[in-house]
Amino acid sequence: MERKYWQDTVIYQIYLRSFNDSNGDGIGDLQGVIEKLDYLQSLGAETLWLSPHYDSPMDDNGYDIRNHWKVSPDYGTIDDFKELLDKAHKRGMYVITDLVLNHTSDEHPWFEAAKDPNHPDHEKYHDYYIWHKGKIDEHGNKTIPTRWRSWFGGSVWTYNEPTDEYYLHIFSKKMPDLNWRNTSMQEDLKAMIKWWVDLGVDGFRIDAANHLEKNWDFPDGHPGYENFSSLPKHHEYLEMLGKEIFTPNNLMTIGESGGASKEEALQYAGFDSNEFDMLIQFEHCWVDTDDSNELTPGKWAKGEVDVPAIKHSFSKWNEILRGEGWNVIYWHNHDQPRIVSHYGDDSLQYWERSAKMLAYALYMLPGTPIVYYGEEIGMTNVDYENLDDFKDVEVFTEYRNFMELGASHETAMQALRDRSRDNARSPMQWDGSSYAGFSTVEPWIKVNKNHETLNVKNQMNDETSILNTYKTLLALREKEALAHGDLTFHDLDDDSNFVYETTGKHHDFLIVANFKKGEATFDKTLLEGYTLFMSNQDSVEASSNTLEAYEARIYRKTK
Ligand code: NOJ
Repeated sequence: MERKYWQDTVIYQIYLRSFNDSNGDGIGDLQGVIEKLDYLQSLGAETLWLSPHYDSPMDDNGYDIRNHWKVSPDYGTIDDFKELLDKAHKRGMYVITDLVLNHTSDEHPWFEAAKDPNHPDHEKYHDYYIWHKGKIDEHGNKTIPTRWRSWFGGSVWTYNEPTDEYYLHIFSKKMPDLNWRNTSMQEDLKAMIKWWVDLGVDGFRIDAANHLEKNWDFPDGHPGYENFSSLPKHHEYLEMLGKEIFTPNNLMTIGESGGASKEEALQYAGFDSNEFDMLIQFEHCWVDTDDSNELTPGKWAKGEVDVPAIKHSFSKWNEILRGEGWNVIYWHNHDQPRIVSHYGDDSLQYWERSAKMLAYALYMLPGTPIVYYGEEIGMTNVDYENLDDFKDVEVFTEYRNFMELGASHETAMQALRDRSRDNARSPMQWDGSSYAGFSTVEPWIKVNKNHETLNVKNQMNDETSILNTYKTLLALREKEALAHGDLTFHDLDDDSNFVYETTGKHHDFLIVANFKKGEATFDKTLLEGYTLFMSNQDSVEASSNTLEAYEARIYRKTK
């Protein structure tokens, strides 16, 4: 398999709304990204993945698209977008955008026509979405067609009086699902995708890719996820896009799909596949839930980090794709808590050490890495005190659910501070000024109070900072072509250590890390032939196989 440019790239994910506000309206924007190109390049980021930049009522911060052909005025204009492409390309950087194909906003003209029987285009667009008449309950009342649960909590069905039907939305009720069985809808979306390709985007991150097909028999069930997740036919749609658009245009494509078997992973991202180049799956993202928690259940229940589960997942995905497809490595994105608060320790004592440990553990692995904005300075979960400090649509449905389950306000608030998606959406902490250097006015979402000390400016000139650790690791990836390393994990079942060997161009590497607050040990014989290369501690006994809390080291030997 010949090497592709995207195998050696470093992707940096920018949540546009929260990255940098250039025009003083409290919202991040495209010119804000342009202002930070030097910063991004000096970090070692080569590919920028922008969260949705399209016109949107922002029910889900842009994943609810109102106009596919227009840049959201919150973020700028099409000229700003072209300028970003142009400036990035001149630096040899790539820009990939989010492609949201599963749903639109309910304010999209297609849905406006679909829901209104008197609209002149009703007939054409009604079938672009998914409708159901509903059921009659034992009291003779109209009720939802099935008890399927949306990903944001609550029913997937909302009643539309003018047509006397329910429409399906697996996310918020302002995000009606598109009907991928409608070929006219497919053609419209393809024309839109081609338009952005012609404009010069280098690729896409394909949102919610495994949800495009639904079970059209609509059997009842709760939560019923199997009726709208990973149904075989969605591959047909993705393959069509791949064959007609992605592959012929040499685009970089990363599909989002929660979970996949080996066969399916290869279907998505095998070298012979036309669907994607790479796959984002979430297997390692929530391996710290407390299943006994009934007040804030599911992902909202914070428990002990299951370190073996992380290792097994990384090792498994490496094996699944080894030689047959390409892997993505990442800690988290805009849908999970901040990694240092999640799998590290954001207390004053261990914040810096554990953030570096997490970086050592991830960024020596083979595959294409995705760094999430702010991760490179160890940004932490939010410290919000009030419910209305939170902005995510999901928070409000889930808060109601917690209350119904009997949780107290404080228990619910703690679950939100631990787990909500807003943790990863607070403004980028550029400096210690009132609004963290993100904006000159109060931002759309509160800055974290710790920005006074935890910020880019403070870390820039400190050689040992988390930021400089990221720079060093990303530069090392390039120099040693670590994306192509041959990986072996050790001690997969050990509760605290994280130990692996990988091969680089000039050296072989041994990475040893401790994910816990207590001591960890590892097999001493692994050290044979290796010398210490990097460590997240000031003083280290290189020959010791005992690791202090959150300690991490990189050893190497010349080939
Ligand atoms: C996955 C995205 O990452 C998430 O932020 C969004 O809410 C859903 N897809 C719906 O588009």
